[in-house]
Amino acid sequence: MAQETPLYDRPDFFDAYLTLPRQQKGHDGAPEWPTLREMIGAINNQEVLDLGCGLGWYSRHAVESGASTVDASDISSKMIQRAKDMTPEGLQSRINYDVSDLNDLVLKTSTYDLVYSSLTFHYLPNESFTRLLKEIYTSLKPGGRFVFSVEHPIYTSPSNPSLEKLADGREVWPLNNYAEEGLRETNWLGGVKKYHRTVTTYLKGLMDAGFVIRDFVEWMAKREDVEKNPQWIAERHRPMFLLVKVEKL
Ligand SMILES: C[S@@+](CC[C@H](N)C(=O)[O-])C[C@H]1O[C@@H](n2cnc3c(N)ncnc32)[C@H](O)[C@@H]1O
Repeated sequence: MAQETPLYDRPDFFDAYLTLPRQQKGHDGAPEWPTLREMIGAINNQEVLDLGCGLGWYSRHAVESGASTVDASDISSKMIQRAKDMTPEGLQSRINYDVSDLNDLVLKTSTYDLVYSSLTFHYLPNESFTRLLKEIYTSLKPGGRFVFSVEHPIYTSPSNPSLEKLADGREVWPLNNYAEEGLRETNWLGGVKKYHRTVTTYLKGLMDAGFVIRDFVEWMAKREDVEKNPQWIAERHRPMFLLVKVEKL
């Protein structure tokens, strides 16, 4: 049976994705990055795995910040090719880019000090996510940490994820179907399939895999951020990102 083309390999989607601020500017275009960077901590001489690495912004940052090597993987060969092209020659020997699908990825045992993933796991159904958590746990050295971001479940849940205006002018986030985990189709960049799961499922999945939770942030803009960037007002109504740090003891 022919396999569906990965979303990020579709030329129309890929071209639209490249125009987003966080793909144009990297971490400088990602408002949650300073919080994530603090959660990750120092990575000097560490072995790092970057899952769903996209254009490789984090992988390059990691080796520039002292990581020994980074294994970086993504299902999209277009993203991986672009990530390789964007990697300066001096860093190339320390980043191993690989095209692979997280739905069936098998990882090396007790290898990594840090497993990182940004905004990717909401593309996996629950069965794949649960399986992957066990793989990640096994792939970490004792004391290793796993830090990731996903779209917040309050953001992935609604059938129509955009602010709505009430008759009295107040804006509301149309949260519905929160308990119904599973596939959502939204019209972001022309049409995307994602998977919604609750905060409970994320946290219980991590604990069931053996992890100890170390940090947990529902990322929202600060009041002063919105004063500087009024277009961020939605980031005060509801959290868009869930950031998590866990450890393998
Ligand atoms: C929103 S992008 C994030 C990219 C990068 N982590 C970043 O923060 O810039 C999501 C990435 O997940 C990848 N992805 C989606 N489903 C995947 C899967 N099943 N296996 C591996 N990568 C996947 C996509 O190809 C895409 O590069």
